[in-house]
Amino acid sequence: MAEARIIDGKAFAATLRGRIAGAVQRLRTEKGLVPGLAVVIVGENPASQIYVKNKGEQSREAGFHSVTHRLAEATTQDDLLRLVAQLNADPAIHGILVQLPLPPQIDAMAVLAAIDPDKDVDGFHVVNAGRLAVGLPALVPCTPLGCLMLLKDALGDLRGREAVVVGRSNIVGKPVAQLLLQADCTVTIAHSRTADLQAVCRRADILVAAVGRPEMVRGSWIKPGATVIDVGINRVPARDPALAAQGKSRVVGDVAFEEARMVAGAITPVPGGVGPMTIACLLLNTLTAACRGAGVPVPDEVGA
Ligand code: GUN
Repeated sequence: MAEARIIDGKAFAATLRGRIAGAVQRLRTEKGLVPGLAVVIVGENPASQIYVKNKGEQSREAGFHSVTHRLAEATTQDDLLRLVAQLNADPAIHGILVQLPLPPQIDAMAVLAAIDPDKDVDGFHVVNAGRLAVGLPALVPCTPLGCLMLLKDALGDLRGREAVVVGRSNIVGKPVAQLLLQADCTVTIAHSRTADLQAVCRRADILVAAVGRPEMVRGSWIKPGATVIDVGINRVPARDPALAAQGKSRVVGDVAFEEARMVAGAITPVPGGVGPMTIACLLLNTLTAACRGAGVPVPDEVGA
């Protein structure tokens, strides 16, 4: 069997960002509308710092009004809730993202619940989770939205396909399952307590791995020709023991890529697969929120 086609999420995301930038330029000149994104980060988590920097840079590159609020590690929940209330009331801001994780003195669910659902560009508010579940227009979590865009590009119509999602988080597993269901797949959500996980995975025409365990899904778990979407971003020691001893690391997915590519029909690499789609979909959600807020249609060219 031929090796799997590699799904180039990096290139897909760059094209999407380009289309969003074009749409933003047109909205600015034709309607005087500039989508505004506020990103809030509390504390010094190094991975969060990188994500937030990238979100700010890419939103500015796309022509958005972009603000980043950097709050101290010791920020209280009340202080953060006051900032969220201020952003909810700010007409120049259409999207609010509070980077997770938050320090232990802050209840993340309380903060997410305080964000105006129509500005909730992460799609984490229970109102958006509910809208997605019942098929109403929702702001959909960015990584799941990115997965679906890649799948539709790779496969076209998803109707009737057997989809298995490994992982049941609120951020990825559950919403990606909802989106696959909406696309008329037959959906199974598998998790750490699933009996005979390998056999369940082997049924999948579409396998989405979102468990956060390095290279857990092996080649032998994959149905020949299946499309594999690897959401994992796991840091592991470098392959070379000398480099590993110096503390050097590399990033791998939840799928054992070298094995999986010999079996799958198509597969996303890590890095360069789903990861770049997340910020592109954040921009798409912010554009969507801005258009809905202003009562103008979301431009066709972004393929929303
Ligand atoms: N932390 C890691 N991923 C995400 C994300 O998609 N959104 C937010 N708000 N925090 C995160």
